[in-house]
Amino acid sequence: MIITVTLNAAIDKTLAVPNFRLGRRHRAVEQTSMAGGKGVNVARALKSLGQPVIATGVAGGPNGTRIIEQLTEEAILNDFVRIREESRMSTAVVDPTSGEQTEINERGPLVTEAELELFVDKLLYLAKGAEICVFSGSLPRGVEADVYARLVTELRKLGVTTILDSEGDAMLLGTRAEPTIVSPNELEAEELVGHEFSDDQDRLTGLHEIAELGAREVIMTRASGCLALLGETERLLYRATLDPLEPISAVGSGDAFLAGYVAARYGGKPAEECVRFGVACGAESTQHFGAGVLDPREVERLVPDVRVESLDASAAQASR
Ligand SMILES: Nc1ncnc2c1ncn2[C@@H]1O[C@H](COP(=O)(O)OP(=O)(O)OP(=O)(O)O)[C@@H](O)[C@H]1O
Ligand SMILES: [Mg+2]
Repeated sequence: MIITVTLNAAIDKTLAVPNFRLGRRHRAVEQTSMAGGKGVNVARALKSLGQPVIATGVAGGPNGTRIIEQLTEEAILNDFVRIREESRMSTAVVDPTSGEQTEINERGPLVTEAELELFVDKLLYLAKGAEICVFSGSLPRGVEADVYARLVTELRKLGVTTILDSEGDAMLLGTRAEPTIVSPNELEAEELVGHEFSDDQDRLTGLHEIAELGAREVIMTRASGCLALLGETERLLYRATLDPLEPISAVGSGDAFLAGYVAARYGGKPAEECVRFGVACGAESTQHFGAGVLDPREVERLVPDVRVESLDASAAQASR
């Protein structure tokens, strides 16, 4: 079983508004509303890929009820702790004329210490039957920035593979707790190491710096694919690339990437195949409006177009 953790679950509302302008009144020509938050998106994509997944986290108020009902309607197994304050709604306005996207994320509920402890109990219980646990997204108010660090440490003791995709202090402290994998996008990776990257050499050095912080394996996603430092005994560098597609909505493509990577890894595939499948899933998800939505048949069509290079091998060849 794979667990996804979403501490900041949301109702994700996407509105298509042509010629969107500030200070004007608009009419949406299309709209969708679905259960969201990064861990929920990962769970949706894993479910589409036929993987056994359970989504957990905290949810409250009428929005929390909708999140749980929508997951259940999508037949995504879920087990959330109910909290007193209301889960947030995140609104994205996509302008089909310019392709631009504007996002407004509500502040989100305050989670009490007692509510968080209920969640920790639930997670430790679920983890007894799990091989992989994915922690995704930012933290709600009231939750200490070291919560991922604490959970990663607890789950490692149970022998669960831990994967972290967050930002800011939660990501930094979580990385120091030595999760199996961290999976930032390029910006989050720059934030993690504290400097910007100007070329691939910088990015590769960045992967090693993140590993030195504590992560055993590191994947950095970019619109063009990913760079990764993978392997439990011997760590090797990989670069996966795919020609960009014209996106319908790129929101959640990192979550779809992670679901693809996790699905392949759960299936025991070698590292190259895991990143290849992840990149194909991230790319395919850009062809759909909702986050974490993908079509597995289209993913299979993209897989052969993803180029994966093992950089250590080419560096060794170049030095010969
Ligand atoms: N326009 C695109 N065409 C093809 N693939 C894309 C495109 N944009 C993103 N991807 C794929 O999606 C993956 C994740 O991309 P990116 O690093 O932009 O995610 P992210 O910023 O974490 O997104 P989010 O946090 O919204 O899920 C990449 O590995 C890439 O393969
Ligand atoms: Mg991301």
